[in-house]
Amino acid sequence: EKGGYEHFMLKEIFEQPRSIGDCMRGRLDANNGRLVLGGIREYANKLINADRIIIVACGTSWHAGLVAEYFFEEFCRIPVEVEYASEFRYRNPVIKEGDVVIAISQSGETADTLAAIELAKSKGAIIFGVCNVVGSSIARTSHEGAYTHAGPEIGVASTKAFTAQLTVLNMIALRVAHSKGTITESRYHELLVELENIPSKVEQALKLDAQIEHISNEFKDSKNFLYLGRGYNFPVALEGALKLKEISYIHAEGYPAAEMKHGPIALIDEEMPVVFIATRDSSYDKVVSNIQEVKARKGRVIAIVTEGDALIPQMAEFVIEVPRTDEALMPMVSVIPLQLLSYHIAVMRGCNVDQPRNLAKSVTVE
Ligand code: F6R
Repeated sequence: EKGGYEHFMLKEIFEQPRSIGDCMRGRLDANNGRLVLGGIREYANKLINADRIIIVACGTSWHAGLVAEYFFEEFCRIPVEVEYASEFRYRNPVIKEGDVVIAISQSGETADTLAAIELAKSKGAIIFGVCNVVGSSIARTSHEGAYTHAGPEIGVASTKAFTAQLTVLNMIALRVAHSKGTITESRYHELLVELENIPSKVEQALKLDAQIEHISNEFKDSKNFLYLGRGYNFPVALEGALKLKEISYIHAEGYPAAEMKHGPIALIDEEMPVVFIATRDSSYDKVVSNIQEVKARKGRVIAIVTEGDALIPQMAEFVIEVPRTDEALMPMVSVIPLQLLSYHIAVMRGCNVDQPRNLAKSVTVE
């Protein structure tokens, strides 16, 4: 049932053009400017009129929440807070009626996320669930929701669930922004078209597999890794680091690139691989300066760039070119090489990629 792949994780990484497409099917029709999300019909007004959105999640789902924070704020102009469910539930958070809580969970069974929802519900918040597993506890406890429809995810490391979460959250944000009038018609249409094109761009990114395998061989014995990105690619840096540590047991940290000089820069020497997610976007020039700072300290730079980039290939030791897309949608594309990098390194180190030590697919205890 691994469909000819050696591991579920690899199968699920390669499934993403299809799973992202499935997530949009029947919901998005860019040609006609249509975006219909069954689950949000009744509660659309709650989101449109929300004073605040609070996103609660754990792990990879929390990273999807961080990306969503950027586009909900940019497109919908609604303040967003992204919370680790485990912290939120224990610190007497301020929750008011008018607040909308979006709970993100692949399994729909994560104990802390479920408890955070119960707490918010008891204070009168509306709960919107973004789950993958149909009929799961979180899906049932939420007032409304939208499934990610990524299909069963077997590998413990979450891959296709993450890109499907981003797809759903993006559609919700665009739908709300369009109703609120906080996005121009032309930008709205541009993003719908771009969203529809994501599966083919992910398909293209997957063709980098052999190149990434080669890079993995170069770094498989590293003891540490740093992942740096800015803006929409900052949560991608966190996600890349999490994927590597959980399946290859290499210590890795993700940081917003600008934070590097507030501490992590002290770690950089000729032994330190630094993965930059440095695609062409509004923070590109700043990221280029950060690459220079790492180079000056002899760090080994691996850069994810937009195809055709002429500058970074002169600076980085390894360059991975992904297709161009809108910066708000780039995480769905730029995360692909990072999933593959962690996969290959883990396999080369002889790790059990589908069932890493100490981890479970659903964390039903707090
Ligand atoms: C990472 C991973 C975990 C989960 C986290 C939340 O690859 O799988 O960090 O993302 O346990 O799980 P869900 O999304 O099921 O609530």
